[in-house]
Amino acid sequence: MARISVHKLREWKAEGRRFAMLTAYDYATARLVEQAGIPVILVGDSLGSVILGYESTIPVTMDDVLYHTRAVVRATEKAIVVADMPFMSYQANADEAVRNAGRLLQEGGATAVKLEGGTNVTALVRRMVDSGIPVMGHLGLTPQSVNQLGGHRVQGRTPAAAAKLLNDARALEEAGAFAVVLETIPEQLARMVTERISIPTIGIGAGPSCDAQVQVFHDLLGIFDDRRPFRHAKAYANVGTIIRDAVRAYANEVGSGAFPTAEHAFEMDDASLAELEAGGYHQPAGVL
Ligand code: KIV
Repeated sequence: MARISVHKLREWKAEGRRFAMLTAYDYATARLVEQAGIPVILVGDSLGSVILGYESTIPVTMDDVLYHTRAVVRATEKAIVVADMPFMSYQANADEAVRNAGRLLQEGGATAVKLEGGTNVTALVRRMVDSGIPVMGHLGLTPQSVNQLGGHRVQGRTPAAAAKLLNDARALEEAGAFAVVLETIPEQLARMVTERISIPTIGIGAGPSCDAQVQVFHDLLGIFDDRRPFRHAKAYANVGTIIRDAVRAYANEVGSGAFPTAEHAFEMDDASLAELEAGGYHQPAGVL
């Protein structure tokens, strides 16, 4: 089965067809996400916090993203798999950036890459697109610059900052990006961007006017009870509680002897058992 083409997303925008993007980082999750009909799966560098337990996305490496991208690609047939370019995989050197983006497609099997930034990265985006690498942009609250931004704050609230973001979005479109994530910006600004560019805007904390939305899988499923998701996240289930209850029930049943039962065990036939009990069988030397 062929994967959805990145060009389809622009057609969907033109038709007014909204879609959901969701993160996934492993085989089992990616299978479930694709089975649920999600057309675009992001192997986000958010894996740094929800999978690897880091405070931010800064420590995530190319090897981390490659490892998780391969698992997601193995699990899926149809979805566009977008691999996030981690911090310092594209900021220092343009040649290295194009090579790293290429690795995510060649070694990871991703359909496309995502990178953060506006006019500061558009020359790079153009080079990648010209090399055959589909690129998704990311504007607004760009987590790799969280230290520069002074924390997880709403971006684009002043006229100057909003005008810059509009300009960045247009520049990304002109450079050949096929879509752009808008993270944590005022909904009025997201609406203006969405109306002024022909590529889909994918919002997270950017209000309802975007062409698509993206969420982090662990926030959507309510996996953590001690990691307060940002206000823009919505938990559609409380899977953390379900998992904890199931694991507790298992441990209790092992403790009480209720698990395993005959249903989960295997038997030797009577004749073999009788022969064994009659004796005469000796372990070969060296075998416990
Ligand atoms: O890393 C990630 O999951 C992301 C999304 C939040 C857009 O970049």
